[in-house]
Amino acid sequence: MANPLAQDLDALRQAIEKTANLGPYAQAFHLTPPVGWLNDPNGLSQLGDTYHAYFQYSPFNPEGGVKMWGHSVSSDMIKWNYEGAALYPDQPFDVGGVYSGSAYVEDGTMHVFYTGNVKLEDSDGYDYVNSGREANTVHVSSEDGSHFGPKHPVLGNEDYPQDDTNHVRDPKVWRSGDVYYMVQGARKKDDTGEVLVFRSQDLESWELVNRITSDEPFGYMWECPDYFEVADETRGGMLKVLSVSPQGLRGDDWDRRNVYQSGYFVLHGNVLGECSLQPFALWDAGFDFYAPQTFLTDDGRRVLIGWMGMPDEKTYTNLTVEDGWQHCFTVPRTVTARWGRVLQWPVREIERYRGERRWAPELIAEDGLKTFDLMAYGKTPLSSFTATIADELVLSWDGERFEMRFTDTDKGAVGAGRAVRFEQLDALRNVRVVGDVSSVEVFVNDGELTFSTRYYPKHYGLSAEAPGCELALWPLEF
Ligand code: FRU
Repeated sequence: MANPLAQDLDALRQAIEKTANLGPYAQAFHLTPPVGWLNDPNGLSQLGDTYHAYFQYSPFNPEGGVKMWGHSVSSDMIKWNYEGAALYPDQPFDVGGVYSGSAYVEDGTMHVFYTGNVKLEDSDGYDYVNSGREANTVHVSSEDGSHFGPKHPVLGNEDYPQDDTNHVRDPKVWRSGDVYYMVQGARKKDDTGEVLVFRSQDLESWELVNRITSDEPFGYMWECPDYFEVADETRGGMLKVLSVSPQGLRGDDWDRRNVYQSGYFVLHGNVLGECSLQPFALWDAGFDFYAPQTFLTDDGRRVLIGWMGMPDEKTYTNLTVEDGWQHCFTVPRTVTARWGRVLQWPVREIERYRGERRWAPELIAEDGLKTFDLMAYGKTPLSSFTATIADELVLSWDGERFEMRFTDTDKGAVGAGRAVRFEQLDALRNVRVVGDVSSVEVFVNDGELTFSTRYYPKHYGLSAEAPGCELALWPLEF
């Protein structure tokens, strides 16, 4: 039975959702909030034939506020139906927000683990890093993904290493053999990021078994960790992948990239014991990507969804704020591995929404398409590639680097202040571009490199040029 705080939050949420009008940049197939603000994907899972996705949700303010878990369901991961809010901040141990977490499904029961955030009132000069903040790990379960039982706090700050600050959060849970495991992201007192690994026999009582960090300090906080193993199709064996979203990377090439980063380390050794981290690889090199989470579908695919947004970004914006909402998820991406590298590719279900294919050698152009799927592929590596989308977004490869550039960097222009992102790339084999009303996601070389961005065209259209190569373009129809 909901307590009065949850009841009132529920009534207020429903009232504000009734006023929503998402305006010209409402997405056709990317998961968006019904109103207000969305950030991290949470609790990604499959229960029977239904996919569940939860999201960090602040319905009352498109610039963010107190976090609850919004809930959407889908039968194909492409068309999502919003179901309401599943978890409210209504307990002393989560009143500052039901922060990010994951879902683990066993025997038809969904076990959710999240961080109950608490920020104490500033009466004693708290710094909110080492004091004034609680991070409670909470377990709650559900049979249908919508109605949850009582919340059980299972870990608190006293259970985390004492050389960690109070920033410990974002539990991701999985099972291996008869044992359950959990990773959490943490900020140590020496301002370095790490991942904590816990173990449990019963999902209620958890013990710390490992702490994983890089050889050299790599940012001050690692948010939203994930750990999974994926078959390496070329080398054989399993590739062990530790995903984190580090904050505080400075210098080198980091300053030209996003405020915060999101990527993965291939892990050598044992995640529960001796292990070492290989060089960090970005999940996505575009403007809008953070805090991804993966899950395993019943048919055995590892699927990743990211938040197509960026926290604390001041130089660019999203024009949807004027329409009372902000942010969305990426298209769900199947994760595979080749040659020790992880690849991301839109889940195959998106192909069901393709309309009639247009095909052309070397050059293709089409006016007015808001939702599309474009592929450029050659029998041999490409010699060059350029695509111009909505006049102002240019994707190009010049033999050395792959670039995503907005030609007008004004905050009212198509990129709303975004300028350029690029990565070195020696050879280009293929490019795929998936466009929705206000987003573009680019998959380079079978998804070895991806670039995601939001964008706000006044009119739509695209042209692509790839000498010696074939181009296919499908409208996506919903
Ligand atoms: C990442 C993050 C998480 C946290 C959540 C709060 O974007 O900061 O670490 O749990 O967002 O909304």
